[in-house]
Amino acid sequence: MIESRPSHPSTPETVLLTGATGYIGSRLLKRLDAGSHRVRCLVRHPDALSSVESTDVEVAEGDLLRPETLPAAMRGISTAYYLVHSMASGGDFELEDRKAATDFAEAALAAGLQRIVYLGGLGNGRQLSGHLQSRREVGEILRNSGVPTIEFRASVVIGSGSLSFEMIRALVEKLPVMLTPKWVHTQCQPIAVDDVLDYLVNALDLPSSVSDHGQVFEIGGPDRASYRDLMLEYARQRGLKRMLISVPLLSPRLSSLWLNLFTPVYAQIGRKLVESLRNETVVVDESALESFPIRPRSMADALRRALVNEETGNPKATARSDTDKASQTTS
Ligand SMILES: NC(=O)c1ccc[n+]([C@@H]2O[C@H](COP(=O)([O-])OP(=O)(O)OC[C@H]3O[C@@H](n4cnc5c(N)ncnc54)[C@H](OP(=O)(O)O)[C@@H]3O)[C@@H](O)[C@H]2O)c1
Repeated sequence: MIESRPSHPSTPETVLLTGATGYIGSRLLKRLDAGSHRVRCLVRHPDALSSVESTDVEVAEGDLLRPETLPAAMRGISTAYYLVHSMASGGDFELEDRKAATDFAEAALAAGLQRIVYLGGLGNGRQLSGHLQSRREVGEILRNSGVPTIEFRASVVIGSGSLSFEMIRALVEKLPVMLTPKWVHTQCQPIAVDDVLDYLVNALDLPSSVSDHGQVFEIGGPDRASYRDLMLEYARQRGLKRMLISVPLLSPRLSSLWLNLFTPVYAQIGRKLVESLRNETVVVDESALESFPIRPRSMADALRRALVNEETGNPKATARSDTDKASQTTS
């Protein structure tokens, strides 16, 4: 069922946004709405968007795991954002994500979509974690759909409410001395959430010659850093003295239990994510810098921005359900 405001009937320029209740999607919705875009949000629970008052936003009730809900949501659409994953489902996320992407790809081709924009994860090396492998597989399914697909791959996204950022925050805020597993030395390439949103919005204007055959863009800030560097920079900016002592023999299972102990709100997803921390997530192909007029902020700037938004109590800039849940859980 699609709820639309009568004053603005749907037009072919309307953009379909999946994951509109999620961390990235909810912020992208604000960005698109603030620009000149009309947006149709495909959501499982329309009530979750009841606070959105814009007349340029439609809400279509749908579920990527119920393919019969897709054709109506895609009617009249030329571009769709795919910002969904099943990590929180409690089921077999790899299976669910494969099914969701396959059904979405088929429906998109049938509906005549001209472009899909997907945000997945960076990951280098052979033995990718189940999570990163699955993100990669979703990208492949969408790029092979017959609909030109732009796939962005990002490492740690820095911004209040981002899962990986909240894990780092919880650990640094709570533990003056940390016995850290081997993965704290893994290299990543953090990017500020605002820069990720810039890429996603700019993807709408990418010439079709670039996107015609589908293209992968690896995106990241200018700094490569270990998770240890990231935690120490966070501590520095917060004025916290922290000591990290490496314990290389801490097993992935113990490491996961350790994370769950100190970041309880992420217990469900964290277990699956921690496996990914052993994989390096850095940009190898820098073509995004050539194709887009975007120069991402440094890691220090991204952290400063995330923290400043909190100190100024700018809920619009920082709030997201996970952050809210975190404060409820810990209060
Ligand atoms: N956040 C990061 O740090 C980060 C870093 C790199 C890449 N990415 C990528 O960015 C994308 C979005 O991630 P996120 O962090 O924004 O995720 P998120 O906050 O966990 O949001 C996931 C979204 O997916 C929706 N969803 C899940 N299953 C669905 C289904 N069957 N049908 C329709 N909607 C469904 C959820 O809707 P409900 O509200 O109904 O649950 C929610 O809106 C993912 O592809 C992720 O790999 C994120």
